[in-house]
Amino acid sequence: MVILQPHQTSNKQSMETQSMATHHLLLLLLCSAHFFLSPCRSDPDPLQDFCVANLRASDITVDGFPCKPTSGVAADDFFSTVLSKEGNTNNVFSSNLTSANVLSFPGLNTLGLSMNRVDFAPGGVNPPHSHPRSAELVLVTKGRLLVGFVSTSNVFYSRVVKAGEIFVIPRGLVHFQYNVGKKKALAITVFNSQLPGAVVAPLALFGSKPAIPSEVLAKAFQVDQQVVKLIKSKFGS
Ligand SMILES: *[C@@H]1O[C@H](CO)[C@@H](O)[C@H](O)[C@H]1NC(C)=O
Repeated sequence: MVILQPHQTSNKQSMETQSMATHHLLLLLLCSAHFFLSPCRSDPDPLQDFCVANLRASDITVDGFPCKPTSGVAADDFFSTVLSKEGNTNNVFSSNLTSANVLSFPGLNTLGLSMNRVDFAPGGVNPPHSHPRSAELVLVTKGRLLVGFVSTSNVFYSRVVKAGEIFVIPRGLVHFQYNVGKKKALAITVFNSQLPGAVVAPLALFGSKPAIPSEVLAKAFQVDQQVVKLIKSKFGS
């Protein structure tokens, strides 16, 4: 919190302090008014040291997962090998995503973070998608990736990112990674959510079950229904 001390400052300083305080106050109000929509934070803060998820407690439904009793928690609950193996990129996108989120690594429950590895063959793409619950930090550890996102004003921001470099994707925005190098590439992505969720544009629009009516997509994309049906045939919808 900013504490106002108008009598100890000059007029100009005091006005600056006041406008800063107003700004902070506005931000605080915005954050608390929309607490449940959370524009200012991602996952809620934990209420205890840890809460290793009991993924099998199917009769208890909470936002997240109930905790395993502490007496049953061991070091292995905080350790995972899920990201240690290269994914098989022999598929339509020539890429493979491996997730260390609360579902594959229950120790992440309530901690507000998770991590993926994305393997790319040359020309491979992690297709345009968005994460409803998280921003994403992309660290390229091998190769060269074109990484980009589109803002809600439809401005496309992108960079070619090389090994050791990072690029950040703001929460909820449509983005992709594309291997522009001649060799394999690898990216490690970090999320401020235990389960960021992913809306993968081609699958959501052309592979949903049941399918979105073709006339809707034809009108939306300004093409013949034949074109829509062709794309749908690639994604099984
Ligand atoms: C990703 O790689 C894993 C491990 O090789 C494999 O089991 C899985 O089928 C692959 N996924 C896709 C979509 O190719």
